[in-house]
Amino acid sequence: MSNSERVVLVLGGAGTVGSGVVKALLDKGFKVAVISRERSRLDRLCSFVSPNTKDNLTTIVGNVGSEDGAEQVKQELLKAVKVTDVVSSLGFSWWQGGPPHTQSLKDLQWVIDCLLYSTFVSWKVFFPLVRDDSSCTYTFITGGAGEKLLMPGTGFLTVGAASSLAFCQVLREEYPDVACKLNQVRIDTGVATAERLAPGFLNHLELGEAIAAVVQQRSTSHSVFNINSPADLKTVLLDQHI
Ligand SMILES: NC(=O)c1ccc[n+]([C@@H]2O[C@H](COP(=O)([O-])OP(=O)(O)OC[C@H]3O[C@@H](n4cnc5c(N)ncnc54)[C@H](OP(=O)(O)O)[C@@H]3O)[C@@H](O)[C@H]2O)c1
Repeated sequence: MSNSERVVLVLGGAGTVGSGVVKALLDKGFKVAVISRERSRLDRLCSFVSPNTKDNLTTIVGNVGSEDGAEQVKQELLKAVKVTDVVSSLGFSWWQGGPPHTQSLKDLQWVIDCLLYSTFVSWKVFFPLVRDDSSCTYTFITGGAGEKLLMPGTGFLTVGAASSLAFCQVLREEYPDVACKLNQVRIDTGVATAERLAPGFLNHLELGEAIAAVVQQRSTSHSVFNINSPADLKTVLLDQHI
């Protein structure tokens, strides 16, 4: 199957990490579908991608964080495209609400909602579309924050990120023989757009190219690609023989 015959659903595709992935996939000739809760974010994404690829981008307003919302948006999506690949890049860029004793249960619920529940619910709804086909892929984007406190006040980010890491591990172990290529890209550094880059951060476009290479090659399954610095992006690209 050539890239132009493949349709990648990028969950969180209007976000910082996701938008880099969407642009890279479109530039490689893939068709891409993105769901966002806000039309304005989708419009911004449409003006961000290369103009000559816009026709290959399908955008839908929806919420993949609830079972009903995800099912509803799936039905709408299936009227427009046949999904062959999924990249799940749900969550948020940063959280520093303070140490746990200053936080409420509602704060923790919000974090888990964004990082775990939406990842789980969307996986449950969209994985069946690709599960039984070895030419299909499902790629999770996770953060290294799940293994350590990044700095004081970021504790709930660690709790949320750890829950996504654990969820991906559970999927690898529960479904060892699934046909679809199930992979994880674990990013242990900041990611930003070109205007917001800080030292050591990954440019979301360069990260997007590396993730698009993993999707394109389909050469491995049940793998975790660790990206701790900009140099690691080149390793991922080399591993994918690009
Ligand atoms: N940015 C970093 O520095 C960094 C570093 C390491 C790892 N990561 C990981 O990368 C992933 C994405 O982070 P990001 O920086 O791209 O965050 P972001 O810019 O906030 O984007 C997150 C995306 O998730 C989507 N989302 C969340 N809940 C949703 C729901 N219920 N329904 C539909 N979409 C939903 C949001 O969609 P809407 O458009 O609807 O708001 C948004 O587009 C996270 O898992 C994060 O841990 C990020």
